[in-house]
Amino acid sequence: MRRVVLTALLAMLAFGGVARADNFPSRSITIVVPFAAGGPSDVMARILAERMKTTLGESVLVENVTGAGGSIGVGRALRSPPDGYTISFGHLGTHVANGAIYKLGYDLVTDLEPVALLPSNPMIVVSKNAIPAKTLGELIAWLKAKPAPAAAGTAGAGSGSHIAGLYFENATGIKLQYVPYRGTGPAMNDLVAGQIDVIFDQLSNSINQVRADKIRGYAVTDTKRAGSAPDIPTTDEAGLPGFHMTLWSGLWVPKGTPKEIVAKLNAAAVDALNDPAVRKQLENLGLAMPPKDKQSPAALGDWQKAEIAKWWPMIKAANVKVD
Ligand code: MLT
Repeated sequence: MRRVVLTALLAMLAFGGVARADNFPSRSITIVVPFAAGGPSDVMARILAERMKTTLGESVLVENVTGAGGSIGVGRALRSPPDGYTISFGHLGTHVANGAIYKLGYDLVTDLEPVALLPSNPMIVVSKNAIPAKTLGELIAWLKAKPAPAAAGTAGAGSGSHIAGLYFENATGIKLQYVPYRGTGPAMNDLVAGQIDVIFDQLSNSINQVRADKIRGYAVTDTKRAGSAPDIPTTDEAGLPGFHMTLWSGLWVPKGTPKEIVAKLNAAAVDALNDPAVRKQLENLGLAMPPKDKQSPAALGDWQKAEIAKWWPMIKAANVKVD
């Protein structure tokens, strides 16, 4: 009798698992964005979600769960059921840097399944218009001459804008006063209003404000100029050679999500990345699509591990204190 029950139980579990993948998705899916609405993560997630629903045949919603440099939102997503209905949106900050700064209570590699690498962009050094500097060299001189550290807006400790600030401090010896926000969307509002001095921002978040002359853009942290911002020099050209940083984003689901479901979510993300209208929207923001051979779940997993190895030593050496 017991054998029958056990067999039935195993079959149910197996069938249930297979059925779950077979008819996935059968209801709406949520992408958890760990930063505030209106910022670069939120903007990218919403553009992709809109197109992913076409492939998946169910609505794809975006939920902003903010705080602690994005680590709260990532925790929420990875603690959801491993059924493919909750996706963790993140990037170099949330899925690499946070692991070197916070006692997360979860492991960014073993507690997540990679789904797809998303577009990337360089960072850009931007300031409020009131600062009397026209070039990166003049901005660095102004920052060095300032009696008190300049206010640098970030999306919280461990966010991409914070890591870029740490990297800038390392490269120049300049001390910054970080002002944390729930995302660089809100931080940008204060930069335009002149409430803070600088942001080491994702190009996609700053590009329209720079184009509208609402803030000043000094240099992009890349070896070549951005096609969408050809008049902004690279850090190499602007006198800070080697100050390169690319902020890439990605999608993950909780560990234990069936492979067939991961594959369906990856296919929807890849369809979005290769959709001409989506590409145009994202490229106009200065974002570059990942190469075709980097669009698999495994490619994101390998990339994340390599970025952990690359960035953790600098971040740990910065000895960031988080309360
Ligand atoms: C970051 O600085 O990590 C992001 O740009 C924050 C955001 O997407 O709002």
